[in-house]
Amino acid sequence: METEAVAAHEPQESAVATKKVFVKTYGCQMNVYDSQRMSDALAADGYTATESIDEADLVLLNTCHIREKAAEKVYSVLGRLRDMKAVRAREGREMMVGVTGCVAQAEGSEILRRSSAVDLVVGPQTYHRLPEVVRKARAGERIVETEYAIEDKFEHLPQPKRADVARRGVTAFLTVQEGCDKFCTFCVVPYTRGSEVSRPVAQIVTEAEKLAGAGVREVTLLGQNVNAWHGEGPDGTEWGLGRLLFRLAEIPGIARLRYTTSHPRDMDDELIAAHRDLEILMPYLHLPVQSGSDRILKAMNRQHQAAEYLKLLERIRSIRPDIAISGDFIVGFPGESDADFDDTMRLVEEVRYASAYSFKYSPRPGTPGAEMDGHVPEDVKDERLQRLQALLTRQQNEFAASLVGKSFQTLIEKRGRQDDQLVGRSPWLQPVIVDESAGGIGDIVNVRITRLGTNSLYGEAA
Ligand code: 5AD
Ligand code: SF4
Repeated sequence: METEAVAAHEPQESAVATKKVFVKTYGCQMNVYDSQRMSDALAADGYTATESIDEADLVLLNTCHIREKAAEKVYSVLGRLRDMKAVRAREGREMMVGVTGCVAQAEGSEILRRSSAVDLVVGPQTYHRLPEVVRKARAGERIVETEYAIEDKFEHLPQPKRADVARRGVTAFLTVQEGCDKFCTFCVVPYTRGSEVSRPVAQIVTEAEKLAGAGVREVTLLGQNVNAWHGEGPDGTEWGLGRLLFRLAEIPGIARLRYTTSHPRDMDDELIAAHRDLEILMPYLHLPVQSGSDRILKAMNRQHQAAEYLKLLERIRSIRPDIAISGDFIVGFPGESDADFDDTMRLVEEVRYASAYSFKYSPRPGTPGAEMDGHVPEDVKDERLQRLQALLTRQQNEFAASLVGKSFQTLIEKRGRQDDQLVGRSPWLQPVIVDESAGGIGDIVNVRITRLGTNSLYGEAA
């Protein structure tokens, strides 16, 4: 799932902290997680995280390459950092700048060429080397560390996958799978993140137990193609994500499980059964479809038709009627006609999404889509995106409104902006604002919704 997230991270253990790192995160939850991982790795070298760029000795931009604008945004931020760096230099204070994430992977040394502000470039496959790269950069070297070049994109990647987790209080992400072998024709992920790799069951279970022991109540399993996860179970049989969820549900202390992001092709029977049988698997499914037109789905290499997607949702809803469906959409893929776009609108009408992300197609160099005929003019893309987003926003509001007057379990996550408020999370991922008397952080309380906020729900202990 692609959300614009900005995260600054808390330090872990405090080594003798002399230096400060500011990490700005763009893009998906995988990046939010990676940013935490980078902060943790640098903590051993005496870096503590800061939320203020002004006091940072090291600025890391953890970038996203999924759409063109994201990369351009990075270059414009780098322009501002170059000016900041010049001011700092006059003051005799050091500020190093690093670019990490998928733009780093895809652009490599081009970033050093285009921006004189940049001291280091590190791709997602090489974060374990970040502290060493930072040390070298401090010694004056300008470094690109991306392990494999974008030109080698079809090579299989033997990647050491690391057993890390990213925590934010009572909720945590746990990466179980990275990379993607689906090769949707619009997408750079198979090139920037490499082939699908699943983490072994035992590692995942151990991490989840550790998290539970540390007070985490909700674990979100993370992967670019999370439901393609598979591994050998302790019984010697092949497990899929459904079986893994059943196993994680046995861990005492874990009260909620989620997973993201899924591909329709990989929703197998056991995963669907998990939604029926596991009360603690939250009734929320992010299942991108991208388009409602079979012609476009084929050109996108999505490997399924619109009717199959609808049927799948029907099955899931029949066994878990309260499930909220979320999706991703692309408008203006090459060759998309008015009729194709109408198919998308019809599909959305039929599904009724609780939330969704929609984007204009953005040609990514090196992907098959970029080479296709029939690129759609920008103004047509704009118009389609507007219509689609209006419909999706209406559905999202309708879903939120349907919860007013209802009561449900809410996980209290943190203090609110106002002193006497707490912020919790509904089973469907909406923030729920309650009075502090409702419970403590980490409690799961029954809340009745009294009114709607802009992007949240207001409720009271029921
Ligand atoms: N152009 C527009 N949107 C894209 N996405 C991925 N690649 C592109 C692209 N080239 C969107 C898809 C995907 C989400 C993470 O980003 O909808 O599901
Ligand atoms: Fe990209 Fe498709 Fe893989 Fe998702 S499934 S990461 S859209 S190639």
